[in-house]
Amino acid sequence: MKANVTIHRDFTISQVDDRVYSSFLEHLGRAIYTGIYEPGHPTADADGFRGDVLDLVRATKTPYVRYPGGNFVSAYNWEDGVGPRESRPTRLDLAWRTRDNNHIGVNEFVDWCKKAGTKPMLAVNLGSRGLDAARNFIEYCNHPGGSYWSDLRRQHGWKDPHNVKLWCLGNEMDGPWQVGHKSADEYGKLANETGKAMRLFDKSVELVVCGSSHSNMPTFPDWEATVLDHTYDVIDHLSLHMYFANKEHNTLNYLAKTETLDRYIQTVSGVIDYVKAKKRSKKNVTISFDEWNVWYHSHEQDKKILEGDDWPDAPHLLEDIYNFEDVLQVGGVLNTFIRRADRVKIACIAQLVNVIAPIMTETGGPAWKQTIYYPFLFASLYGRGTSLRAVVDGPTYDADIANDVPYLDVSVVRSTGGDALTFFVVNRHLTETLDLTSALNGFPAARVVEHIQMTHPDLNAVNSAANPDNVVPKTVGGTVVEDGALLSKLPPLSYNVIRLAV
Ligand code: AHR
Repeated sequence: MKANVTIHRDFTISQVDDRVYSSFLEHLGRAIYTGIYEPGHPTADADGFRGDVLDLVRATKTPYVRYPGGNFVSAYNWEDGVGPRESRPTRLDLAWRTRDNNHIGVNEFVDWCKKAGTKPMLAVNLGSRGLDAARNFIEYCNHPGGSYWSDLRRQHGWKDPHNVKLWCLGNEMDGPWQVGHKSADEYGKLANETGKAMRLFDKSVELVVCGSSHSNMPTFPDWEATVLDHTYDVIDHLSLHMYFANKEHNTLNYLAKTETLDRYIQTVSGVIDYVKAKKRSKKNVTISFDEWNVWYHSHEQDKKILEGDDWPDAPHLLEDIYNFEDVLQVGGVLNTFIRRADRVKIACIAQLVNVIAPIMTETGGPAWKQTIYYPFLFASLYGRGTSLRAVVDGPTYDADIANDVPYLDVSVVRSTGGDALTFFVVNRHLTETLDLTSALNGFPAARVVEHIQMTHPDLNAVNSAANPDNVVPKTVGGTVVEDGALLSKLPPLSYNVIRLAV
C-alpha cells in the first residue's frame, strides 16, 4: 500500500509549545512514595529521592510536572505537607482511599523538580476548599518574605520563593466523583474569584481552568461555555482530560480513538472562539490537555483497594503495565497534539512514575522504562519547533467511532533552529507495509540522519523489571531522500521517528 504525504516548509500550523511534553505526579498509589521518594533505596540521595528515577525523568526533558493532583487535590490541605516532617499529620485521602503521611509536600516537590530538570505546575483545591486557601498557598510559595505565609516558608527552610508560574484552578470539577463537585455555574464563579485573587497577588501567573474530564461527560460542551463565560478574562488555559482503553481488544478501533481526541479539541476550540466572540475579547484562551494516557490494564486489580476499607499507605494502584500496542496509541496521541499545536499549548502525560506511567519502580529494586516511555521521549526530544501541515493521501478504514481513519498517522516538526525536520509516523495497518513518499518542498538539501523504529511480533509484549528491554526502539536503514522526496517502507503496526537534516 502507498501513502503520499505533502508538506511545505512555509505551510505551518504553529509553533509547538514545549509544554505539551509535560507530565503529572499525584499523591496516588506509589507515584510519590516509592516512586520518586524512597529514603533508604540504594540510589536515594540525601533528600530521599530515587536517583534511578531522576535519571529516567531527566532524560525525557519533560518541562513541567503537574502536582499534587488529580482527584487527590480536591480534599488536600497544602499546609499538611509543610513544616517539620515529624509534626505533619497522617490523613485519609478520600479520592483513592489511602493514607498519606505528608512526608512530601510542596517544598520537597519543588526541590525534586529542580533535580529532575523540570518545573512545577501546581493545582489549588477548589473542591473542599477555595479562594482563601489558594491565596495563602500562592503567597507561601511565591512571596520573597516579610509576610505571614512567606516567612513561614522561610522558617521551614526555603529562603527563596519558588516562583511557580503555572496554576490549575482545581481538578475535574465537572466530575460527580470529585470531592466538592460543582455545577458549571458554581465552579465558574469560584474559579473566577480565586483566579482574580491569585492575579491580584501576581499578574504574571498563568491560570488553568477546568474544562471537561472527558468528551463523554453529559455536561460537555455546555460546561466549557458556562465556565468560560465566568472566567474568560481571568484565565489563560482551559484544561481537558482524556484516557484511552482497548477493552474490546480491537486494535483498529483502539487506534482510531485519536479521532475522538481530535474532535474533542476541535469542538472545545469552537466553544472558546464562541465565548471570545461573545465577550468581544482580543484574548486567546488555549487548551491545557493536562491529563492523557492509556488507562485500563489495571482497572480490575484496583477494585479491591478502591472498594475496600483498608486505607493502605502507597498501595499498588493504577499500575498499568503497557504493551507494544500502547506505543502506537501514545504515538498517535502525541501526533494529534502536534497537529493541534495552534490550540493545545500544554499537555501532561498522566502520570510519570508507577501510576499509569512511562516509568515503573520496584520498592527497594530497579526502575525501568515501560513501552510508552519511548514515544513520549522521542516526541519531547525531537518534536520541538514548528508543526508543519502534513496532507495525507493514502488508504483509510472505517472504525466504530469514525469513518475514513487514515492507516498512516503522521505529524511533522521543523526544529526551532530550522536545521532538522522530524516525521513521527504510525502505520496502523495490521498486516500491510506502507510505502511512504513525501516530497520535501522547501527543503532542497534534506538528508536522512536516523530512522528510529518500534515494531514487535506480539502486540501484548511488555517490559518488566526482569526483562526491561523486551520492547525497545531500534535504528533501521532503507529510508532515503531521492530527488527531493523522502522514501520509506513502514512495516505494519509500527511507530517511526524519521529524523532529517535540512
Ligand atoms: O490520573 C488519574 C486520575 O484521573 C486523576 O486523579 C483524575 O484527575 C482523573 O480522573
